[in-house]
Amino acid sequence: MSTSYPYTEHFYDVVVVGAGGAGLRSVVGMSESGLKTACISKVFPTRSHTVAAQGGVSAALGNMGPDDWRWHMYDTVKGSDWLGDQDAIEYMCKEGPEAIVELEHYGVPFSRTEDGKIYQRAFGGMTTNFGEGTAQRTCAAADRTGHAMLHTLYQQSLKRKAEFFIEYFALDLLMDDEGRCVGIIAWNLDDGSMHVFRAQLVVLATGGYGRAYFSCTSAHTCTGDGNAMVLRAGLPLQDMEFVQFHPSGIYGAGVLITEGARGEGGYLLNSEGERFMERYAPSAKDLASRDVVSRAMTIEIREGRGVGINKDHIHLHLDHLDPDILQERLPGISESAKVFSGVDVTKEPIPVLPTVHYNMGGIPTNYQGEVLNPSLKNEKETVPGLMAAGEAACVSVHGANRLGSNSLLDLVVFGRSVAKRANEIVEKNSAHVPIPKNSLEKALDRFDKFRNANGSTSTATIRLEMQKTMQNNCAVFRTGEVLDEGKKLMDKAYQPMSDISVSDRSLIWNSDLVETLELDNLMGQALTTVHSAANRKESRGAHAREDFPERDDKNWMVHSLSWVDQNGKVRLGERKVHDYTLTNEIQYIAPKARVY
Ligand code: FUM
Repeated sequence: MSTSYPYTEHFYDVVVVGAGGAGLRSVVGMSESGLKTACISKVFPTRSHTVAAQGGVSAALGNMGPDDWRWHMYDTVKGSDWLGDQDAIEYMCKEGPEAIVELEHYGVPFSRTEDGKIYQRAFGGMTTNFGEGTAQRTCAAADRTGHAMLHTLYQQSLKRKAEFFIEYFALDLLMDDEGRCVGIIAWNLDDGSMHVFRAQLVVLATGGYGRAYFSCTSAHTCTGDGNAMVLRAGLPLQDMEFVQFHPSGIYGAGVLITEGARGEGGYLLNSEGERFMERYAPSAKDLASRDVVSRAMTIEIREGRGVGINKDHIHLHLDHLDPDILQERLPGISESAKVFSGVDVTKEPIPVLPTVHYNMGGIPTNYQGEVLNPSLKNEKETVPGLMAAGEAACVSVHGANRLGSNSLLDLVVFGRSVAKRANEIVEKNSAHVPIPKNSLEKALDRFDKFRNANGSTSTATIRLEMQKTMQNNCAVFRTGEVLDEGKKLMDKAYQPMSDISVSDRSLIWNSDLVETLELDNLMGQALTTVHSAANRKESRGAHAREDFPERDDKNWMVHSLSWVDQNGKVRLGERKVHDYTLTNEIQYIAPKARVY
């Protein structure tokens, strides 16, 4: 049946899937050095979710006072609750300043200090002198930093003649019998045609899977399509239990209010008018790491000190700040607060609630972006022809909890590092190996199965069941009982996938089919998330187990691995955390208690 889909073949050195910050930064680097580069994106590039990043991008530039990349590394290791790989963290923090200056030269319109340097603000968990003072390390373009970066990187990609395939939905990786990735198949949403992209290297930069949850700051397009392709290729995902809740999603809407609002002096109050963060994080207070703040807010609400009629959220105050500063540095969130909660930030507090924001887990890679296959004997062995970067990847620089503004840094540093590695390993214009027929057929069979799905349960019904389960059973606080129930409920939510109904059979702009394929992608990730969470019997970073409240380095300082088979059955494994650095400019930072 599948062979009835004709397709067009394209030949490239490299194909990048995803046109967010990581995808575009890798495209810029690869096309610059003459690799024939294609970028496939299911949305127009400047609508990729990076556009929504607000507060900024971290790098130890030292524009606002003394700073050092080693202090940044220390903060990131501590923020990760010692689950991050220290070789990769060292690489990110050390390369950060150069990657930011490069962005500035590309034309990113950063905000400026009086003397013309890039403006940097305070963000949670960012300190000076290995935890002693507060660092202003987050480079900002007002509160629209992602928007500024994305537009600049798209322009730079076009300048270097990268070729874009826009509103093409990547369906699956094409893998040969030796486990090498030889290309990708994509569906052109605009005219319904199928396209096979043959390449020496495929880079997955498809972002996170926030939409597995009911309430998140992520765009509706954040369905982790690359992660799902990796699972279908029989490869594992890593550290899926670590899901970040951002402390300040607008109550009821989920829309992000940047942590930069607290970086500029905003603070949280409970219904008793108390700055409760002083109790939970006496030094850093409102600028503690996100997991710490989200847990504190949840405890305040649980203990009856939430605000509002139902006492179910918290107030974020900016009304004491100079209106001119708000206008200059936080114009975007001032508008969002007005539109989504009817609040004038110069006069009233913003109602906020911890909201799903980021996935620390994803496709395991080394610091050069090569995808790891840790199931092989040698844990460092990589999957030939496949790389990943950005939120889709788990390098792992964020470990169990990401620090705010380290995400945009991750995108540019590892997008750049992927391009550097590609330039080393891909021979320009070399011959392409044949596409294995079974790999292509498998991808088209899946597509065809959903296109003709004639069952009795709607995509929306199944999606809601999955999202509610994840929201209720895999949240800020977790227990074995709730997670075990979550596993059962997710199995139940998964079952009707074989009885799904897709009403539209068209190949052109078929949103029903797009959403169904996306739901199928989300399912595997939701399953691996809840299973990994139930398996990890300790508390670390964003994974807070009430039944195992302590971090357990002896048994659990390991990365979780998870596979899903075609029947939705999850298999778990683990791999070692890298306890070494790349250079002798800094030594391994040994674990200790994590207090802010
Ligand atoms: O709060 C924010 O502006 C988000 C930044 C981030 O997630 O890095």
